[in-house]
Amino acid sequence: MRPALRARRGAVTMADTSCFGFLPRFPHFATRAIHFAQEPEQWNSRAVIPPITLSTSFKLEDPEKKQDYQYTRSGNPNRHILEEVVASLDGAKYCLAYSSGVGAILNVCHLLKTGDKIVCTRDVYGGTRQLFIEIGKKYKLKVAFVDFINPSKAKEEITPDTKLVWLETPTNPTLKVIDIRACADLAHRIQKDVLVAVDNSFMSPYFQRPLSLGADICMSSGTKYINGHSDVLMGLVSVNCKELYEELKSLQIALGAVPSPFDCYMCNRGLKTLHIRMKLHFHNGLAVAKFLESHPRVQEVIYPGLRCHPQYHVTKKQCTGVSGMVSFYIKGNIKNAFAFLKNLKVFSVGFSLGGFESLAEHPATMSHASVPEEERKALGITDTLIRLSVGLEDEEDLLTDLGQALEAAFE
Ligand SMILES: Cc1ncc(COP(=O)(O)O)c(C=O)c1O
Repeated sequence: MRPALRARRGAVTMADTSCFGFLPRFPHFATRAIHFAQEPEQWNSRAVIPPITLSTSFKLEDPEKKQDYQYTRSGNPNRHILEEVVASLDGAKYCLAYSSGVGAILNVCHLLKTGDKIVCTRDVYGGTRQLFIEIGKKYKLKVAFVDFINPSKAKEEITPDTKLVWLETPTNPTLKVIDIRACADLAHRIQKDVLVAVDNSFMSPYFQRPLSLGADICMSSGTKYINGHSDVLMGLVSVNCKELYEELKSLQIALGAVPSPFDCYMCNRGLKTLHIRMKLHFHNGLAVAKFLESHPRVQEVIYPGLRCHPQYHVTKKQCTGVSGMVSFYIKGNIKNAFAFLKNLKVFSVGFSLGGFESLAEHPATMSHASVPEEERKALGITDTLIRLSVGLEDEEDLLTDLGQALEAAFE
């Protein structure tokens, strides 16, 4: 059967991606993304789009008084409105923006002191893993990587010295879904002052709000879905606790990893279409997952929006939908995996995810190459695993491209 015809059999309807029994959509999301903190009256020009303020210094009205903006590392109007609107979308009181997702994670790490322990999701983003290991060695932090799919296993690792529990869900690249509420409750029960942080980069606040599920920190690589146009590096941290915010705010200024006003402007602009983009990422992601599921050259598909996903019930309970991240095992061996990637025409082979353009990557040799081979094997990051970031192109073109590359991979 031709790929396009095979695709039509399992076609995705809007009903599939709107009323699956997922968590109800967060009210007023689109209106907030477009208008929150963007009031034209706050600028003398009354421009409806926030002007870019590139000035690094602001004229003081009275040298004896503090004012909102003095020096751009400590505060800038474009950063301020981005932080305000992201906090609103994360359902948070406060947000802080950083020059990258890793910069945001590093700032959170600076809340810790020598002797503290980090308990982290086992199949976490490779950069997070490397960062925790490196700073753990240098600053004598203990670091444990744990499978949070079974929270009772994590229980053993959350000891009295644990100060940070780092969750990433869905996990990267095997898209396991961690029950945020269960893990946050467990961690707080064992260790009252532990901080539970969730990396929300794969979902965006449109599909998942970790703070409403008991987490203390919601971190996002804004580089991904939040900006959504693959042209900005951005890190974001949202919290509800005032003391935590104040501590992070002084670290943000002291460490200096702040985003430029232009990047804040771009990310704020990207946010205006987040709700529309996420709906289509879900639609196309599900279409691709269903297509691959029925393809004879595919061993297994992992997509939290498929009923056969082992944590489908958790996904429905804690998310309003699913993004465009789809992983699958191609049949054959590494040669077939590379041949598939080389034959893609609409998908580009590349790092990163969450942009409007479709990307494909080979985790074992790309995003997770730094993970030791034994650990990769244990996590299921084999030579035949492929991760897709399904973009916003026409569904038919995406399925046709995948179909022809799968056929070509075995010629
Ligand atoms: C899940 C996840 N978290 C964090 C990061 C780091 O973000 P950034 O590249 O913006 O520093 C990435 C980057 O790929 C990621 O995939």
